[in-house]
Amino acid sequence: MEVFHYHNDQLFCEKTSLKQLAAEVGTPLYVYSRGALEENFKNFDNAFGDVPHLVCYAVKSNSNLSILRLFRDLGAGVDIVSGGELFRARQAEIDPQKIVFSGVGKKNAEIDDALNTNILIFNVESKAELDAIEARAKFLNNQARVSFRVNPDIDPKTHPNISTGLQEHKFGISTVEVIPLYQYAGMLSHVKVVGISCHIGSQVTSLDPFLQAAQKIFELLRRLEEAGIRLRYVNLGGGLGIRYHDESPPSIADYAQALRKCFAGKKQVLILEPGRILCGKAGLLLTEVLYVKKSDRRRFVIVDAGMNDLIRPGLYDAYHEIWPVERNASETFIADIVGPVCESTDFFAHDRKMPITQKGELLAIMDTGAYGFSLSSNYNSRPRPAEALVKNNAYQVIRKRESYEDLVRGEKGL
Ligand code: LLP
Repeated sequence: MEVFHYHNDQLFCEKTSLKQLAAEVGTPLYVYSRGALEENFKNFDNAFGDVPHLVCYAVKSNSNLSILRLFRDLGAGVDIVSGGELFRARQAEIDPQKIVFSGVGKKNAEIDDALNTNILIFNVESKAELDAIEARAKFLNNQARVSFRVNPDIDPKTHPNISTGLQEHKFGISTVEVIPLYQYAGMLSHVKVVGISCHIGSQVTSLDPFLQAAQKIFELLRRLEEAGIRLRYVNLGGGLGIRYHDESPPSIADYAQALRKCFAGKKQVLILEPGRILCGKAGLLLTEVLYVKKSDRRRFVIVDAGMNDLIRPGLYDAYHEIWPVERNASETFIADIVGPVCESTDFFAHDRKMPITQKGELLAIMDTGAYGFSLSSNYNSRPRPAEALVKNNAYQVIRKRESYEDLVRGEKGL
């Protein structure tokens, strides 16, 4: 059974009616299927079979503590990119030896926290960062395990704003500079070089860029071994895309099989950092229609979710399907689905063919489990939405709706 499906023309998440959920918790509301999250993780993890590997879930895609705990219970590690994500990982009691720390701009305080936590690996993105980590580890009388993040200069053929592995991007270290850096790092006393990593971009919908990047990494590994540098970990990042509209991304099985083939005969532990593929299709955003407004040229469906709740359409022109929660209209109209925020980029769809929709009806903005809530903000002083996790016919509110008081919490008495 599909996770989100109609039963008697009512939309359900697993066995929970979304109409009832909205009536009890209100809208806008993110809804996630526990079954889908678990199944996605297991599929991904099992697809790598007996290859020694560690799946480090990319916390940024959906950082809710309950979701981190759910993946933790299935054996996941995490990929973090900030002190805040490290804090979340610790709150979720993720094994520190399953935490990898990526990102181009780690601050001293964040490095110290990660050292004190004894995380598995820092994915280092520059010589300057390596020097900072050496200095902090020395100060703390500690030793950091590091990987260099290589920029393989591969075009992932995804949206320009979410590709990261080309030479013009700020991410990683070029293949030319990286070998001397390994040699330099070998002379430092408070870092221990244990791996190599890369991440070429997100929402990648063909295998080719992954394979090209992997080949570059394995070629570097060979050259490093020739130079007497042996590594224990190879991290091939995240990035596997999902179907939002008409894309046809590789399946998890095909992706894993292709990477396993490249990896055959290697002695390292393979690390992967999936985000979107684990949670993207496991979530939707429920919203209520506030008004239907007609102008000479267009029809607008104004809903109670805004770009502060889900910014992907406004930011990347991303396509999300929008389904009615009750399927009772047989006729359709063409409309723009927009939010209440005072910006023209506050939209969820343009010129979308929709079943005729009235005030008070509920809509579900699909495939918003990844980079939905985690990219939300309080713009226009809008409290952020609640999040609910569904299991069969029961649900749990895993994040309370913010209140107006929450909005001004840090501003009192100043
Ligand atoms: N590892 C690193 C170092 C990353 O930077 C990312 C994502 C991932 C792993 C996980 O990538 P995934 O498997 O989720 O594709 N806000 C954008 C996506 C930004 C992705 C940033 N990095 C969006 O809404 O499409």
